Amino acid sequence: MPTKPFFLGADWNPEQWPEQVRAEDLALMREARVTAATVGVFSWSRLEPSPGVYEFGWLDRVLDGLHDNGIGAVLATPTASPPPWFTLAHPDALAMRRDGVRLVHGSRDTYCVNAPAYRAASLRIVSALAERYARHPAVRLWHVHNEYGTWCFCDHCGRAFRSWLRERHGTLDALNDAWTADFWSQRHTDWAQVLPPRATQYLGNPTQELDYRRFLSDSMLSAYTEQRDAIKAVAPDGQVTTNFVLGGWVPVDHARWSREVDLVAIDHYPSTLDGTPAESAFAADTARGWSAAAGHGGPWLLMEHAPAHVTEHGVQRRKPPGMLARIALGHIARGSQGAMYFQWRASAGGAEQWHSAIVPHTGPTARTYHELRALGETLAASEGRAPSCRSAYKKAPFPTGEAGLPAAGAAGAGGGEVAVWFDEVCGWAVGASHLPAPVDYQGIVEGWHRALWRRGYPVDVVPPTATLAGYRVLVVPAAYLLTDESARRLDEYTREGGHLVVTYLSGIVDEHLRVRVGGYPGALRDMLGIRVEEFDPLPPGAVVTLDTGDLVTGWTEHLTAPGAAVLARYPDGRPAVTRREHGAGRAYYVSCDLDEAATARLLDGICAAAGAAPILPGLPDGVEAVRTQDGVWLFNHTDEPHEIAGRLIARGDVTRLPLA
Ligand code: GLA
Ligand code: ZN
Repeated sequence: MPTKPFFLGADWNPEQWPEQVRAEDLALMREARVTAATVGVFSWSRLEPSPGVYEFGWLDRVLDGLHDNGIGAVLATPTASPPPWFTLAHPDALAMRRDGVRLVHGSRDTYCVNAPAYRAASLRIVSALAERYARHPAVRLWHVHNEYGTWCFCDHCGRAFRSWLRERHGTLDALNDAWTADFWSQRHTDWAQVLPPRATQYLGNPTQELDYRRFLSDSMLSAYTEQRDAIKAVAPDGQVTTNFVLGGWVPVDHARWSREVDLVAIDHYPSTLDGTPAESAFAADTARGWSAAAGHGGPWLLMEHAPAHVTEHGVQRRKPPGMLARIALGHIARGSQGAMYFQWRASAGGAEQWHSAIVPHTGPTARTYHELRALGETLAASEGRAPSCRSAYKKAPFPTGEAGLPAAGAAGAGGGEVAVWFDEVCGWAVGASHLPAPVDYQGIVEGWHRALWRRGYPVDVVPPTATLAGYRVLVVPAAYLLTDESARRLDEYTREGGHLVVTYLSGIVDEHLRVRVGGYPGALRDMLGIRVEEFDPLPPGAVVTLDTGDLVTGWTEHLTAPGAAVLARYPDGRPAVTRREHGAGRAYYVSCDLDEAATARLLDGICAAAGAAPILPGLPDGVEAVRTQDGVWLFNHTDEPHEIAGRLIARGDVTRLPLA
């Protein structure tokens, strides 16, 4: 089995600090058994202070310094932030907003990915960087760009959009048809009339908007592969990736991109402090699913997360002591090849001077640094982790995947018997503002994942391209946009013995957002044995009680169930939850938004019938179990000690039960 390098470290921005601070940082990293630092992310203006003039000396010293201390480099390309000289020389390469306002430099990510000048300048700096460092012994991983996801609506994008559309739809007639252009007189009679979805009077065309996101994703992907190929041209054995930023606003189809990276890498910034364990599990299970579906087998890397805070509704909530290690180890148990942070040393100035860091403004006496150092020790010293002692660093700077980590596979680390379907492109479609009610696609998917997570089921989050056979239960929440191919695969999965759980608002439209008419959900109606005639979303605050006593908010439907057994009914006797035997499997339909307790009860019944069991039944709320190839890892997220399987776990602690 090929070994993977192990990554413990952070983004490091030594160019913001004088030489003696850099030296102190290296000593602190070594002391904490840091194995990698991400450098160069936003260094373009330092590397190329004027067009074609390169200053690599400082980066030479940074990479040499890392190497001398047995620390690897994740070497970034700096293209997420072109220098001011570039934007003044190429005003057409600045991003344009939807409303036509041209942005100016002053922040980051202010460029048009389709501007020829930007692409040429990017390729130049990346090629120079790659040539210089292709053989530098510190470089473990190439980190292209940073968090692709920038929007632009300029004329360069308009031109590129039209050729992308020609490629996708073939003819103007096909485009008009796909976009339902007969609605509101939007028929195009010449390609020149086709525009990006810029600011317009009222609701825009939802298919134009969806195609634009797909187009931006492909545009950025081609910018990424262009850089990757330039790196591989001089460093053919180099491992190349980019850090994915998660969130429905990002026009990047990460499942598709995962095929183009050597290691799936994500950044993760949860939205609430209390929700962090569940949100982290969801992110990790998602990254593992992308990795597995793309043919990488499941391993992935947590490239960034915050050391000491979670920003909750704009307020930086402090992570309590112990959380740093618990969350990092949770990611590792779920297949991450390490834990990387943003950032190593807190910036004294600049837009992110208040972002938490491993070495905060106080300096290395701060607890965050000590917590990281303890984590480094834990990782290095745990049983079965071969290069554990510090002296081994010079010879083998990275503990290997085999020795240091649970080997990850879709079912090897973290995941297993139950899968939750997560399709970012569908999320873009559901996020449109013309639906019968506001629908939070990712929130719904995370809700199903959370219910399974809380009950301790081993879960994978899978994109539509994943191999489905092998999962006992597959939950498909709010899969509003479902292609014919996906519908066929879900049917096949069920006929061959899978237990499929489909929720409301699934299988409604095709890939062009055209409703599959004749009764919802057009794509799955026959398999489910039901027919939805009307949606009946509830106003905020309204609660409906089913005949099972389960509570429903948010969404309800009027349906008939000519071919399915009714498991729960609305107060007037109409079906709410149904089940149909289909081939060797079963297909359930949940027409409403059940609360978490009801969701858990339903899932318990479905999983039991399918033969899927929790990793350890009856765990107290807040204690998480993750099955890995080297045992079951237990995470106590609560403030009390718990005794599990005869072992006492202190509050906030992590322990590992050996495999029976
Ligand atoms: C992102 C970026 C980092 C930094 C962090 C913290 O993940 O990649 O450069 O901005 O967020 O905000
Ligand atoms: Zn543009």
